[in-house]
Amino acid sequence: MVVKAALVAASQSDALASAAGATPLTKSVARRFVAGDGVADAVSAAASLASSGLHCTIEHLGPSAKDAAEADKAATANLRLLEALDTADLIDRSELSIKLTDLGLDLEGGEDIALGFAGKIAAAAESLGTLVTLDMENYDSVEPTLRIFRSLRAEFPHTGIVLQSYLKRTEEDCREFADEGTRVRLVKGAFNESADVAFQSAQDIDLSYVRCLKLLMAGSGVTLIATHDPRLIEIASALAIKDSKPRSSYEFQLLYGVRTNEAKRLATTGDKVRVYVPFGEDWYPYLVRRMAEKPANLALLLRALTGR
Ligand code: FDA
Repeated sequence: MVVKAALVAASQSDALASAAGATPLTKSVARRFVAGDGVADAVSAAASLASSGLHCTIEHLGPSAKDAAEADKAATANLRLLEALDTADLIDRSELSIKLTDLGLDLEGGEDIALGFAGKIAAAAESLGTLVTLDMENYDSVEPTLRIFRSLRAEFPHTGIVLQSYLKRTEEDCREFADEGTRVRLVKGAFNESADVAFQSAQDIDLSYVRCLKLLMAGSGVTLIATHDPRLIEIASALAIKDSKPRSSYEFQLLYGVRTNEAKRLATTGDKVRVYVPFGEDWYPYLVRRMAEKPANLALLLRALTGR
């Protein structure tokens, strides 16, 4: 837990980010979890996943916008990505995931700014026949993210939202969204939150995940089961069978570079499996969050940093 907290804090350090970016070996570790720096890398990862029968949701890794110009740049990167996926004939296999802080959420008047850019991306996605899901970031951003999500959904009803089972409020959020037929991506949560608002033990987080999963799968929406945890995947599969859920009403989602064989195995059962593919030059905070999830990944990074 202490190591995880330190790593999540490290993911927010600009100084460490530039030090890591300067090291080719760190970059080589990043390649396991990040498709590459550019749009072409993301498209190539999408093509390779498609050839294995997998779908993808692509995330442009940008910095949290420090001004409107940076937010505009992030939105443009997403629009270019959509065009490239369309040109490569991969749009029917690909969706987008977006982080609202990249689109200006933390700026003054940030909710309107982020909503404006997210709306542009959702409109472009819809016109090409695909969808956008909003990532969930730290606790302070949950309420603004949900407000933006509700506004977006009024115009783009198939927009998705991430909910984090480590938050004590999430069961209630699931209750609200399950009834509305929403696309909800259920994750455990990757940030460092206090005991006031978040479950701290792995067991409590897992139990919350199961309660949320049951609510979502009993609802009328699409449940995006985003976990690598074998027990949770098994429970989700059992719920789908027990409730005779149509395969269009749920899908499994995993991160690029994590449990790749499990993604392929699930796809062979006929379930829809989507891999979350991050790309972009600002990969450092993402990489450190993945290190925090598994100590063996940290060992990989330390070996790269020390050249051993
Ligand atoms: P857990 O961490 O318990 O891992 C279960 C098992 O999976 C591990 O024992 C290991 O075998 C394997 N595993 C998990 N992570 C690994 C890793 N990094 N490297 C290697 N093996 C690993 N979070 C968030 O706060 N906001 C968000 O918007 C998103 N979005 C998102 C989208 C998608 C598609 C996924 C799959 C995940 C996210 N997350 C996220 C991250 C999520 O909150 C969580 O941190 C990770 O998924 C890890 O949690 P697991 O459920 O996999 O369980």
